Amino acid sequence: MASLRSTSSLLRAARPLFRPAVFSRTYATVESQTPDGLCICQLHNQRASSFGGCQIKTFQIYRWDPDQPSEKPRMQSYTVDLNKTGPMVLDALIRIKNEEDPTLTFRRSCREGICGSCAMNIDGVNTLACLCRIPTDTAKETRIYPLPHTYVVKDLVPDLTHLYKQYKSIKPYLQRETKPEDGKEIRQSPADRKKLDGLYECILCFCCSTSCPSYWWNSEEYLGPAVLLQSYRWLVDSRDEKTAERRAALDNSMSVYRCHTIMNCTRTCPKGLNPGKAIAEIKKQLAFA
Ligand code: SF4
Ligand code: SF4
Ligand code: FES
Repeated sequence: MASLRSTSSLLRAARPLFRPAVFSRTYATVESQTPDGLCICQLHNQRASSFGGCQIKTFQIYRWDPDQPSEKPRMQSYTVDLNKTGPMVLDALIRIKNEEDPTLTFRRSCREGICGSCAMNIDGVNTLACLCRIPTDTAKETRIYPLPHTYVVKDLVPDLTHLYKQYKSIKPYLQRETKPEDGKEIRQSPADRKKLDGLYECILCFCCSTSCPSYWWNSEEYLGPAVLLQSYRWLVDSRDEKTAERRAALDNSMSVYRCHTIMNCTRTCPKGLNPGKAIAEIKKQLAFA
């Protein structure tokens, strides 16, 4: 893991002691901008509004290349014409990669908020780039970092190895010895099925865990909100027969009880889920079951 870098140092960039160097690409098209966001650009060499107007937005993006391990992470500046780009931050990233800089690296797959792979920190908030609208205020730059307090594989790609290891540790699958009576399906009442709402929708993007201060400081032992929401999903599944074992595995001072109900997790979840509540429910089960 020596070649990986944590993002936490750059996220402290607001501190006066350390500011990342900003590297502006020479072929940025903006020459100057009018207050209404229209521009006079090098490409058109005249007032762009005569072409229907362009709306130039600057993105500052975290860059780190594992093949240059001695170089520090830096922020790189890119400009995008919002009139030629889709509305989401992922659209801008794809445009930058396709047209300006093929070395820019990020994960994405579905572009629909389903796969969870485009999770990153955009203007200080952990979210999915494909569900995050580009702020249309062109006077303000948008700053994009990998998920905070993760090791970085490259640029905006976080290393999720540890998080997946923790996910595996909770045995996230149905555990059951008893065969269904009809030998076909394991039935569940509508009321029991309803208990899974707000849990099964989790896409394991880890926006919540990487926004949790308790997880930042205790990630070796504290499971964090994403994995605990998944634990609760199996604890309340009426078809599972290992509830007691699942509870016993969580009943220690670190796995669950490092949560101090700060609720960053719930505030940031791009799917509108409530991992903070799921953790509170686990604590209730541990206390009263
Ligand atoms: S509620 Fe718990 S899990 Fe969520 S951010 Fe706060 S400490 Fe972390
Ligand atoms: S609870 Fe929300 S933020 Fe956390 S992993 Fe699931 S979908 Fe992502
Ligand atoms: S690309 Fe799949 S969630 Fe964003």
